[in-house]
Amino acid sequence: MNYEEAYQLLKKYRQEHVLNYYQELSAQEQKMLLDQIASTDFDVIQLIEQKNSISKGVISPLAAMQLDEIEAHKKEFRQIGVKAIENGKVGAVLLAGGMGTRLGSDQPKGMYSIGITKEVYIFERIIRNLLDVVEDTGSWIHLFIMTSDKNDQMTQTFLKEKNYFGYDPSYVTFFIQEMSPATNYNGRIYMEEKWKMSTSPNGNGGWFASMERCGVLKLVEQEGIEWLNVFAVDNVLQRIADPVFIGATIARQCAVGAKVVKKAAPDEKVGVICLEDGRPSIVEYYELTKELMEAVDEKGEPAYNFGVILNYLFRVEELMQIVKKCMPLHIVEKKIPFLDQNGVLIRPIRPNGYKFETLVLDMIHLAKNCLPFEVVRNKEFAPIKNRTGIDSVESAQALLKENGIEL
Ligand code: UTP
Repeated sequence: MNYEEAYQLLKKYRQEHVLNYYQELSAQEQKMLLDQIASTDFDVIQLIEQKNSISKGVISPLAAMQLDEIEAHKKEFRQIGVKAIENGKVGAVLLAGGMGTRLGSDQPKGMYSIGITKEVYIFERIIRNLLDVVEDTGSWIHLFIMTSDKNDQMTQTFLKEKNYFGYDPSYVTFFIQEMSPATNYNGRIYMEEKWKMSTSPNGNGGWFASMERCGVLKLVEQEGIEWLNVFAVDNVLQRIADPVFIGATIARQCAVGAKVVKKAAPDEKVGVICLEDGRPSIVEYYELTKELMEAVDEKGEPAYNFGVILNYLFRVEELMQIVKKCMPLHIVEKKIPFLDQNGVLIRPIRPNGYKFETLVLDMIHLAKNCLPFEVVRNKEFAPIKNRTGIDSVESAQALLKENGIEL
């Protein structure tokens, strides 16, 4: 792309200011900026006008497989799951492309230490959890790690330095997710450098599309992996590639499984699994009306009582169908570093604009069916979003100790 082409493209989206510093850039910087413009999806910005207009269909309950039922079939499910792992049919996908802005660390979230008397890194806890299954089944599980341009190098260097916390590196594959532009509240793209637009990772919903684009899907196919367990970096207690969960999803002939926890209170801020227009879906806590919050099932239990914890098992064949469909785009308020009118980089302390994301939870609605699989909250759900308070380093430390993990 040359200057004139870039200018015309930007003009179409009213973003000509992106070229304001062009004349003072070196030839290399000019090229980097033109390359970035050529590879940016500007259409997303137009969606600001449709903000808050994503509407839900008709919501009805989707029964979860609860602890008692799981316990009753545990042996059978475990056998099926272990067999799938032993036959190399299961891979794990760690979503680690996020910025972790709420945690407020400059490093990738996985590099954060939650130890008290020693270093205990988030990545270390995650890998240890997966190693439990490797040791249990005697089979390596291919671990795919999604990073972003912002944290890829740091993540890879760190894990290499730490010898992958004991994981066999030949079973670890990194891939990088895409970025989308970040704008102020009027839809004007911020500049991060004179030669670079501000961008943010494009959300956790594009992971499978990114695997395809980066060529990683070929590896999945070559290795005969049929199931991918995708999970967030920040839940330090979750069981990954859990044989019982895998076995239950296979036994119930579901294309997708979702680990869920019983809600702590009707108004708890978690996305709740349900049916929407007859297909599996997740209704966010702020979309849950009073009527839905108070609805009960035939047993008199709350009908919308199970929250998702971002740990899903997808059949690869189903993902191939999902990826062809269109995912809704979410507009999220964030703190976005930007150059002010004097060309000085400002790091805001409050949200100052929008980034554009697709979310993994929207993939559930594109699947033909889904098994919500209950797990014990205090044993599998310790998300780290903030330093203190709810879903924090502190709350996760308490839960880890409760589960006998030395910190
Ligand atoms: P969060 O929604 O908590 O976002 O991510 P975040 O970026 O990590 O944190 P905040 O909101 O800025 O504080 C949930 C999971 O999805 C991954 C994260 O790494 C985490 O595992 N994620 C999120 C991505 O992989 N890519 C993204 O673009 C966003």
